[in-house]
Amino acid sequence: MTMSSSNSKIIAIDGPAASGKGTLARALADALDFAYMDTGALYRAVGFEVLFAGGNPESESDALHGCNILSQKLNSDDTILSNPDLRNDKIGNAASKVAAIQSVRDALLDIQRNFAKNPAIGKAGAILDGRDIGTVVCPRASLKLYITANMEIRAKRRMKELQSKGFGVTYKAVLEDMRVRDARDKGRKAAPLMPSGDAIVIDTSDLSQGQMLEKALEYAKKAFS
Ligand code: C5P
Repeated sequence: MTMSSSNSKIIAIDGPAASGKGTLARALADALDFAYMDTGALYRAVGFEVLFAGGNPESESDALHGCNILSQKLNSDDTILSNPDLRNDKIGNAASKVAAIQSVRDALLDIQRNFAKNPAIGKAGAILDGRDIGTVVCPRASLKLYITANMEIRAKRRMKELQSKGFGVTYKAVLEDMRVRDARDKGRKAAPLMPSGDAIVIDTSDLSQGQMLEKALEYAKKAFS
């Protein structure tokens, strides 16, 4: 299945954990008045449901059960994706395990494509960030960005983010966790993390958030002119 509407204003942002893609996507959505979806939160929410039920995130039946619970909850309450409990690294790890299962990815595909095609009323377009937005979810997006940064810098950013939210973590543990998660996300058969051939790659290792936004806005201006 491919996106039917190539004219809709869609920005696909992919990249590894703590590359800065979420911060950039939010800032870009504000600046352009686009709707924003953090697709990682969907996989985190499935991981959360699996762990909450005492299941195994690597088991296809447990993970699909988690998807069903999430779909039911999303029908009545879409704020569950903003649950702060989704943000810790235990859930991030469970998310990356359920995300390696193709049937889980299939189950979450329509939610993401519907969002891209029908952004909230009054919004000028949609921005989705994740791992496979430019390659699988929205292959015809008008602008595709692949955001990356070196692993040590990403681990420092993630450590600060987690500490600011009250999670007691060490740099060593965060770095190790990131290594494992990157390897799983890049090495899996189902929609592995990689830049789409037509994505613009931005290395944010030495960029401030303001500089990142400035660059992305320039690309958006060109893409939508
Ligand atoms: O971006 P975030 O760290 O919240 O994503 C959690 C996990 O969900 C990732 O490690 C990845 O395995 C998975 N994911 C994915 N495809 C997406 C978004 C996230 O596989 N589009």
